[in-house]
Amino acid sequence: MAHIHIPKPWGTPEREVTPEAIFLNRRRALKGLIGAGLSIACPSIVGCLSRSDSKSASAAGADLMKFESLQRNRAFAKVDRPITDEALAAKYNNFYEFGGSKSISEKAQALPTENWKVEVTGLVRNPRTYDLDDIRKKFPLEERVYRFRCVEAWAMVVPWTGFPMNLLIKEVKPLSEAKFVRFASYYNPKITKGPGFSLSRLPWPYTESLRIEEMANELAFFAVGIYGHELPKQHGAPIREVIPWKYGFKGAKSIVKIEFLNHQPATFWNTLQPNEYGFEANVNPNKPHPRWSQATERMIGPGPAFSWKRRPTLPYNGYAEYVAELYG
Ligand code: MTE
Repeated sequence: MAHIHIPKPWGTPEREVTPEAIFLNRRRALKGLIGAGLSIACPSIVGCLSRSDSKSASAAGADLMKFESLQRNRAFAKVDRPITDEALAAKYNNFYEFGGSKSISEKAQALPTENWKVEVTGLVRNPRTYDLDDIRKKFPLEERVYRFRCVEAWAMVVPWTGFPMNLLIKEVKPLSEAKFVRFASYYNPKITKGPGFSLSRLPWPYTESLRIEEMANELAFFAVGIYGHELPKQHGAPIREVIPWKYGFKGAKSIVKIEFLNHQPATFWNTLQPNEYGFEANVNPNKPHPRWSQATERMIGPGPAFSWKRRPTLPYNGYAEYVAELYG
């Protein structure tokens, strides 16, 4: 498996802006290859959220429930660049279960999100299975504006709605043997048909993992919404991970299972190409991907056209003050 070059969403670095038609042609060619601390300081955030009963047509193109009276966490409210245009973010996705291009937003609408359950299991004192109502009631939701950096060297700024992962840790109480956590995405080959040409060769379901200390960091976040409304399916509805100091592939979408383990588990991209997609995957301008530099990044938008301007990549994606100590 290690010697087979399996096309990936970031298989070709987009050093420059790539018009969609050229990008899609390239994928066809690739096919041949394989055969201030509000969260911390504001207990009143509990209950300061109510959910609108009205549906709103979002820029993501679907009817999505809006979160009302949403509190933006002031500690994570501003970054040094504008928030990415919502319509652009909603049409430029990586969700390999629904295809290998960025244009999977329509196909992803097949994801069945009704009666969603998330099982939390493994080395914990309180194993639980949550439905979405449990999650919304149990964990006070807040909004955070995070930088988002894909390993392909494009970047966005996204307002997520959700809750910090450390609240789940407090609920389920991992045992002292638990050293890692694994997140598994929804998988049903009849629905998540994959990129088509390589379905059986890929190590489904999509899984990702963190060390427990990383999961406990205040930045590690479960998102149930984006741009003030529930997650559209292409962004990983109804619940996904957001780990802003790591490359985007560390953030599994559409999570159905969270398992606490005493060993480092195999994960999706790391299993396929460990030399290209390391387990740690912290954003690092000084550590090039084997096939492209990570020194700069390309912001998506704003506006209908992709921006050509590149910016320097920030160590830990700009979050060094929160996480550098985790890495000695
Ligand atoms: N999660 C699943 N289940 N499947 C995927 O293909 N792609 C990852 C990550 N999570 C992926 C996934 C990658 S490579 C990126 S960059 C982000 O999702 C993209 O998130 P977005 O489409 O919401 O911007």
